[in-house]
Amino acid sequence: MIYGVILAGGIGSRMGNVEKPKQYLMVGSKPIIIHTIEKFCVHDKFEKLFVLSPRAWMETTKSMIRQYLGNQAERIVVLEGGDTRNETIMNSIRYIEETDGLDEDTLIVTHDSVRPFLTYRIIEENIKYGLEYGAADTVIRATDTIVYSKDGSFIGDVPNRANMYQGQTPQTFNAKKLKEFYYSLSEEEKKILTDASKIFVLKGEQVYLVEGEVFNIKITYPYDLQVANAFLGNEAALESKSRG
Ligand code: CTP
Repeated sequence: MIYGVILAGGIGSRMGNVEKPKQYLMVGSKPIIIHTIEKFCVHDKFEKLFVLSPRAWMETTKSMIRQYLGNQAERIVVLEGGDTRNETIMNSIRYIEETDGLDEDTLIVTHDSVRPFLTYRIIEENIKYGLEYGAADTVIRATDTIVYSKDGSFIGDVPNRANMYQGQTPQTFNAKKLKEFYYSLSEEEKKILTDASKIFVLKGEQVYLVEGEVFNIKITYPYDLQVANAFLGNEAALESKSRG
């Protein structure tokens, strides 16, 4: 079975001193998190959609879903997020295991709640290649040259830009494998491995690259909210332009 896992367990500290986590801020006429959930709702391949939020925001999340997505609410389950992004993902896997059970083919399409501009194609390709390879990650080619520095003062390396990509989400995983790999890590490793795809890579597993979109931005800073408001309503036009 295939599940959509929308990660909304963070508090959005880089957004500054706002009264609520950034995923609940409005873009246009709806909260960011609702725009994101809507993108998953139009896919019929998902058995269920999970939305993982901070404990204190679970009731608000449920009532927003009822208000904006009433006809879809049955398919959406609100769960408590974890202390880290990976722990939030693990909470969804634990829930699947307890309710439907995990089998060899259980696939989770995990996505940042604060990336409301993902497209139907991106989700579709995540499902296709996730099923084929066991893991898929959404990326775009790096446009700026990437400079590596270990000490933050001097350049350590300037890798060939042609091989550099910027990570986005969704990230899609065989849930059983991700669980096994994650729980085989030491506490130290868990702290370092903040990216779920990297866990697969370190275990020697292939992670297929799905082409993202430049406009599939993560709303992180106040500036990103302005960009998101400017994008709104133009998504179809953006997509056709960006893919030529
Ligand atoms: N996230 C989560 N559980 C956590 C931490 C983050 O589900 N314990 C989610 C966030 O809600 C967000 C996504 O992961 O949708 C990407 O993380 P990020 O942009 O870093 O969000 P925050 O952790 O909320 O932001 P900040 O780092 O500025 O505090």
